[in-house]
Amino acid sequence: MTPTDTAGTAGAAAVAVAFTAHFGHAPDGLWQAPGRVNLIGEHTDYNEGLVLPFAIDRTTTVAVAARSDRRVLLASAFGAAAPVEFDLDTFNPETFEPGPAGAWAAYPAGVAWELERAGVSVPGFELFVSSDVPVGAGLSSSAALECAVASALAALAGADLAATDLADIGRRAENNVVGAPTGIMDQYASMLGAEDCAVYLDCRDGSFARVPLGLEEAGLVCLVIDTKVSHAHASGGYAARRASCARGAELMGVAALRDLGAADLPRAESILDGETFRRVRHIVHENERVARTAGLLESRGAAAIGALLDASHRSMRDDFEISCPELDLAVDTARAAGAIGARMTGGGFGGSAIALVPGPDIGRVEEAVQQAFAGHGFRAPDIFAVRAAAGARRL
Ligand code: GLA
Repeated sequence: MTPTDTAGTAGAAAVAVAFTAHFGHAPDGLWQAPGRVNLIGEHTDYNEGLVLPFAIDRTTTVAVAARSDRRVLLASAFGAAAPVEFDLDTFNPETFEPGPAGAWAAYPAGVAWELERAGVSVPGFELFVSSDVPVGAGLSSSAALECAVASALAALAGADLAATDLADIGRRAENNVVGAPTGIMDQYASMLGAEDCAVYLDCRDGSFARVPLGLEEAGLVCLVIDTKVSHAHASGGYAARRASCARGAELMGVAALRDLGAADLPRAESILDGETFRRVRHIVHENERVARTAGLLESRGAAAIGALLDASHRSMRDDFEISCPELDLAVDTARAAGAIGARMTGGGFGGSAIALVPGPDIGRVEEAVQQAFAGHGFRAPDIFAVRAAAGARRL
């Protein structure tokens, strides 16, 4: 058993104890799902393109028990003391108001609702959730919660759904109940992750392959730099980028930006306004970078992908305009201090950057980034290493 397994088991036992303290009896079972970082392929998912995320060793655990009625009681290690309650028969996503302390409850409620809409008859249930995926850091704490809950409720209902179906239930909960217009990448990464592998996913047809990352063989560590600038996907920039991409595809006469290649860019430049063109150029080049990164991982290993990560960051900064001063500083400083490649990860406008760092340089990179942030008067970032870990599972 690895040290992480030991910690996971102890953590799971604590979640079972907390469940029992809340509900007065033991849970039927525990399910766990990870957050993710995206190695490369940003905002390509809803353009039916390519992504290369991996599940990380930061997880959300739910303890769940079925009830004999249709009531749902949701409690957490981070919300209000009293559980959020509702009835599956009267649940209405339009009017569901769990209040600020229970805002997280929209995710499990949404998953239950979407499972029912998909024809699964979900029993009433009690649920306790605990997580060490930081919230608002661009590491998909929401997908981790959705995937843990979807796995748990499908099991309670005796429904035999594929991991990809559960991922889709999670995405629909996020789109239709939480109200964030996100794509499919995060849930696929959380459901399909594997030790030391990235998930190379084609978001057009859902086909995927697990690509060995080989960070250890390459002597590299993936550092996450959480800038503590919180992002909110339900509002603002993310939806605006999605709308620009849809407009670009429509004006170019294609079903999705996935259908465009570098050879189409001169025509795109001649018919699109400058901003839409830059959004389109990012997507076209980012899809190419994802394919090249997956190829390089297989042919030459992780040490060869640094320049592609750097190029991806520049494209997000200059063409897609989803970075921010803190993310740019994290990336530039990490590179200058020894990282072989670095980029922001996730939806953008805050959240985290990743940096691939040779083992001996980790301390130097961390110190340089902390100092640079202090020097700019930015909030101190959280810096930690992540490993590519397994996807959702029953404990
Ligand atoms: C968020 C969304 C994903 C994806 C990324 C950007 O994480 O949830 O679907 O669009 O942003 O790549």
